[in-house]
Amino acid sequence: MKTIIEPFKIKSVEPIYFTTREQRVEILKKAFHNPFLIHADDVLIDLLTDSGTSAMSSAQWAGIMIGDESYAGSKSFFKFEQAIEDVTGMPIVIPTHQGRAAEKILFTVIGGKGKYIVSNTLFDTTRANIEFSDAEGVDLLCAEGKIPAVPAPFKGNMDVAALERFIREKGAANIPLCLLTVTNNSGGGQPVSMQNIKEVKSVCIKYDIPLFIDACRFAENSYFIKVREPEYANASILSIAQEMFSYADGCTMSAKKDAFANIGGFIALRNEELALKCRNLLIITEGFTTYGGLAGRDLEAIAIGLMEVLDENYLHYRIRSIEYLAEKLLAAGVPMIRPAGGHAVYLDAKAFLPHVPVDQYPGQALVSALYIAGGIRSVEIGSLMFGKYAADGSLIPSIMELVRLAIPRRVYTQSHIDYVSEIIIEVFNNRKNIKGLEITYEAPALRHFTARLKEVEH
Ligand code: F0G
Repeated sequence: MKTIIEPFKIKSVEPIYFTTREQRVEILKKAFHNPFLIHADDVLIDLLTDSGTSAMSSAQWAGIMIGDESYAGSKSFFKFEQAIEDVTGMPIVIPTHQGRAAEKILFTVIGGKGKYIVSNTLFDTTRANIEFSDAEGVDLLCAEGKIPAVPAPFKGNMDVAALERFIREKGAANIPLCLLTVTNNSGGGQPVSMQNIKEVKSVCIKYDIPLFIDACRFAENSYFIKVREPEYANASILSIAQEMFSYADGCTMSAKKDAFANIGGFIALRNEELALKCRNLLIITEGFTTYGGLAGRDLEAIAIGLMEVLDENYLHYRIRSIEYLAEKLLAAGVPMIRPAGGHAVYLDAKAFLPHVPVDQYPGQALVSALYIAGGIRSVEIGSLMFGKYAADGSLIPSIMELVRLAIPRRVYTQSHIDYVSEIIIEVFNNRKNIKGLEITYEAPALRHFTARLKEVEH
């Protein structure tokens, strides 16, 4: 097999800045061991997120120049609306400035006290918006999705039996919506199969519960369906995406992921009544219905990006480049969620640092170690992000302690990834020296963004 190459050439470049280990020790201390508080100039390889960090194509930049900035009825909006309808089959499109703004509007309308939103796994902003409406978010992930080291093709699937049990227990009237996150970001970037989407849909139909898709990474999920579900081997990515969305009553999407945009999002719907309520809120919070918090140029870039992401050569390279990193790490014995996700490799910090107890945040300790060793910025998805406190003040930990290395789209080349693997392996070989962390400040919600930590002394 020949090397799978980046299916693009580079027209415009940005410098990255080198720091010494000594400098990074100081920088990290000043940032309170929180990667969100590090200046981006002090990062060599930035794997904090794949969100809004994509390199746009020359076609998208050209689109930026022809963006129509009319307040109402912008030409760019109609292109945006058409692109979304072409992919999702949903005729109602509500633009928002990013994914969480779409979530905020949707859950303000359908959430509220006594309501449950069921999901394979809710992303953190999604859960926060559900809880902010006083509803409860419930994750019903399949069993194999909870065991990091054991590979399975569709570890993002929802547990369909658990879904039906939950509906019977709480009553369908209290469940305004079932939400499938594709791919399952918080569970390792793992895909959901078409089979599972169909099964979830039939339970939703039985109990008259609308099915929504959190579509941030719909194209990566479609590619996994193509290569892992035999009956889709010859189907186009577009037709797989269209079939996925055909089972849904609506979707929210952050265009900062699979639309290669630096900002943007939307809600797409089939139900006019729900759309009216969402639009009323949109006008108060985001903007008029044909721009919703975005400039005309952003709408243009998203419309173009949504078509580019369906290119199979791109998706082949994309999924393979992440697998490539995972293979190098696995060969060195580094513990991680297997198989690799669609947009990221997730290290299993509990297995990586068995000497660091969960209440000393092993994921965050590993994030710090990767930064100091090689200037690599990653993010903890574990007890700092999801942990809660029991009545006695002890930590209720997250099920998994993960460190996500999210790969921005079309940004880094193979040598950058080779460097990342060298650093991780070096850190793994010296893992016994890594100390746990304790929190010195935390906010009441989404604490990981602003938390301050320091090394545990003993
Ligand atoms: N849903 C999923 C599955 C996401 O991954 C994200 C964002 C959102 C919703 C919210 O979208 O950022 O545009 O408001 N994920 C980013 C990440 C932040 O790093 O994974 P947003």
